Amino acid sequence: MGVDIRLRDDGDRDALVRLLCKQQPVSGYPVRWPLPGPVEGFIFRDHDEIAWVACHGDEIVGHVAVGRTSAELDDVFVPVLGVPGESLRVVTTLFTAPRMQGRGVCGRLLRTAEQYIEAGAPTGVLDVVPTHERAFAMYLRRGWQVVAQRRPAWQPADAPDFRYLVLRRQLPPSCVQVHPGALARKAEGTSAS
Ligand SMILES: CC(C)(COP(=O)(O)OP(=O)(O)OC[C@H]1O[C@@H](n2cnc3c(N)ncnc32)[C@H](O)[C@@H]1OP(=O)(O)O)[C@@H](O)C(=O)NCCC(=O)NCCS
Repeated sequence: MGVDIRLRDDGDRDALVRLLCKQQPVSGYPVRWPLPGPVEGFIFRDHDEIAWVACHGDEIVGHVAVGRTSAELDDVFVPVLGVPGESLRVVTTLFTAPRMQGRGVCGRLLRTAEQYIEAGAPTGVLDVVPTHERAFAMYLRRGWQVVAQRRPAWQPADAPDFRYLVLRRQLPPSCVQVHPGALARKAEGTSAS
């Protein structure tokens, strides 16, 4: 039986909550667990613009969403990229069922999200904790570039910084790469790593 990807709908709420809870002890995603609010609100976000689920028969086995950026993300990306926050779209909540890992599900979900972003004008961004090594490595292999790192206020002091990535194909022309992982803006010469 193959895996199909379709648009997420409201009827998927319970199944997605169960899936996120089931995979968290295996993957450590999300890092803040238990979440400070309802699990449903972590998956179904107010900023979501579109989302997809991966289905294996009747079972939901994966998820990804694309949404508008929060003020917190704009604080990171807007100064580095020199573009307005409204032009950014963020890939969020990419996860899959543990039993389906390594079968291309998240790769396909990520590609679906990238194609959606690339079909429009906005720039694709995302954030990741480097301890999610497979996800981080997948993003780098697939053309995402680290442009900043920062620790959200809620992260413990000994936790690693989040990495903030941009889809390299969509880097604004005002940005030039000065060395791997660092950008400078042509006009102001601002840099980030
Ligand atoms: C990381 C994760 C998203 C990958 O999902 P998946 O469906 O297993 O991934 P895929 O099978 O599509 O493989 C994705 C990539 O990982 C590689 N990969 C697969 N299994 C692997 C393994 N056991 N070890 C290392 N790399 C592996 C694949 O080769 C593929 O590489 P590619 O970019 O060259 O295509 C999944 O493990 C997961 O849900 N992790 C927890 C949630 C998470 O970390 N989300 C990211 C939040 S930012």
